[in-house]
Amino acid sequence: MASIAFFELEPWEKEYVKKKLKKHKLVFVDEKLTAETASKAKGADAVAVFIYSKVGKEALAKLPKVKLITTMSTGFDHIDLQACKGKKCLVCNVPTYGDITVAEHTFALMLAVSRKIVQAVEKTRSGSFEFEGLIGTDLKGKTLGVVGTGKIGRNVAHIGGEGFGMKVIAFDLFPNPVLAKECGFIYVPFDKLLSESDVITFHVPLTKETTHMLNKKNLSKVKKGAILINTSRGAVIETGAILEGVVKGIFSGVGLDVIEEEGVMKDELELLSKPSKETKVDYRTLLEEHVLVEQPNVIITPHSAFYSKEALMRIIDTTIENIEGFLSKKPVNVIKCG
Ligand SMILES: NC(=O)c1ccc[n+]([C@@H]2O[C@H](COP(=O)([O-])OP(=O)(O)OC[C@H]3O[C@@H](n4cnc5c(N)ncnc54)[C@H](O)[C@@H]3O)[C@@H](O)[C@H]2O)c1
Repeated sequence: MASIAFFELEPWEKEYVKKKLKKHKLVFVDEKLTAETASKAKGADAVAVFIYSKVGKEALAKLPKVKLITTMSTGFDHIDLQACKGKKCLVCNVPTYGDITVAEHTFALMLAVSRKIVQAVEKTRSGSFEFEGLIGTDLKGKTLGVVGTGKIGRNVAHIGGEGFGMKVIAFDLFPNPVLAKECGFIYVPFDKLLSESDVITFHVPLTKETTHMLNKKNLSKVKKGAILINTSRGAVIETGAILEGVVKGIFSGVGLDVIEEEGVMKDELELLSKPSKETKVDYRTLLEEHVLVEQPNVIITPHSAFYSKEALMRIIDTTIENIEGFLSKKPVNVIKCG
């Protein structure tokens, strides 16, 4: 019998996990994993976390027996891979669960921005049925720039091209010519994508190379009036560049599912009352995000692009497979720790 700890599960997920992993000792911690909460899973052999958990050295030191960290997400930038390697602890993720789910949310943001849906609904809720100020733009015939043509990006390219009749251009570190031919898009250099796209949408993982890929320096390359969409990771775009782009009218609208300091925004009260040594906060970015949230042509969803019933089932099922694979010494979905 192994001891398995789950952080941040919803009540229905706990019941599901209890049925699926009957033979094991299960520990559920409602908070995210931090250096402070790690001791609640002290005896765990395997730990399942979500993206708000910060799996750093300090947290790992409080989990002396842990040999598996499995994240209930695709992205794993919240896990210190080197620290896990040093502890001979496997790291697993959920490589596919929401390709279509996130691609659909990308278009939800795109249409909400291009057709001013949020302002329109606010108007009718306040009793006004005037459409003054609500003029939108069509997507058909516009150029869609897809940054990152992996599992999510390729679905976005497909929906944009086939569904909306957009001209699709893309940038990827590892271009896939077969995919480009199939989906009818062409690869272009990043700067060209910025200067030609009417809609720019990001689908790259957060790495050293992609951090602030769009920033205050290359903002001037962006086509005037472009719509910016980000459902990848907040830090892929410098927050100050988004704000500057909105203020200068470089972006006519912005739809974000992810922002740089979203973990902190979620728990500002907690941060102020008990600051954690592992939480490094960039207060300037945090302030810029507060200003961004209030801009009428910016809409932000709370990292909920993945959050559909179907995707959640796929996440929990793959997490259980990851745990079972680890326990039977046939690990699956393992992240290379360098
Ligand atoms: N908002 C959400 O709810 C949500 C849900 C799932 C995933 N995501 C984010 O979306 C990202 C993309 O997911 P995916 O499943 O499509 O990943 P993926 O690994 O299938 O695709 C990523 C693509 O980015 C490319 N890439 C990597 N580094 C690059 C660079 N420096 N420059 C250009 N291209 C680069 C890769 O070659 C690959 O084609 C994830 O890493 C995750 O952070 C967000």
